[in-house]
Amino acid sequence: MAEDVIVACDFPGAAETLAFLDRFEDEKPFVKVGMELFYAEGPAVVRAIKARGHKIFLDLKLHDIPNTVRGAMRSLSGLDADLVNLHAAGTRAMMEAALEGLTRPDGSRPLLIAVTQLTSTDETAMRGELLIDRPLDEVVLAYAKNAAAAGLDGVVCSPLEAGRVHEACGEGFLTVTPGVRFAEGDRGDQKRVTTPARARELGSDYIVVGRPITRAEDPVAAYRRCVKEFLG
Ligand code: C5P
Repeated sequence: MAEDVIVACDFPGAAETLAFLDRFEDEKPFVKVGMELFYAEGPAVVRAIKARGHKIFLDLKLHDIPNTVRGAMRSLSGLDADLVNLHAAGTRAMMEAALEGLTRPDGSRPLLIAVTQLTSTDETAMRGELLIDRPLDEVVLAYAKNAAAAGLDGVVCSPLEAGRVHEACGEGFLTVTPGVRFAEGDRGDQKRVTTPARARELGSDYIVVGRPITRAEDPVAAYRRCVKEFLG
């Protein structure tokens, strides 16, 4: 399995993103394109980044009726992203439809992972608003198992949950984990953070790192440090 550091390119436009990527000469980081950039620039920005030789995690978190998600995934499959995602809350039927849509005529497809519960949703909101009356970690594991049963390749989760997800869904089931900071770094708005090395020990397959790299004085050095600490 390919462990890697994914750089969250949370920039408002293509110009800033490509200027950031221009700073890298020797390596081609795995890049995460999220809603902000995709909705501003559309598929062209994905093609432009891909044409430069980067792998892409297209973080669009789809959630709709199965037929709509199947069609949306069919559109995305033409973009040649390497990793895409959706909300496990859309049900197994939606996840199965997504896989069908994502699979190209030749049988190839990007990896597909599920968001379980957003880290911005706490147990109070889950019980009070969503009427889900179970502990959060139980819900995360149940949703991860649903994703595995639907044939997905993994989940987005906290590094602190990676071990339990692997226990429940198998070592080959991918855990893609944000919330990573250097030991002495600024946490920003992330509450529960781990270092790259600790994320690896806890079993993360991919770490998603944004500001510690994108806002560093020397982003290339920060990226290299992150890769070194994560991959050893
Ligand atoms: O800058 P930072 O390293 O906090 O960026 C983390 C990235 O991972 C952001 O793009 C954020 O939206 C994303 N993310 C997250 N927590 C989640 C899911 C995604 O931080 N639960």
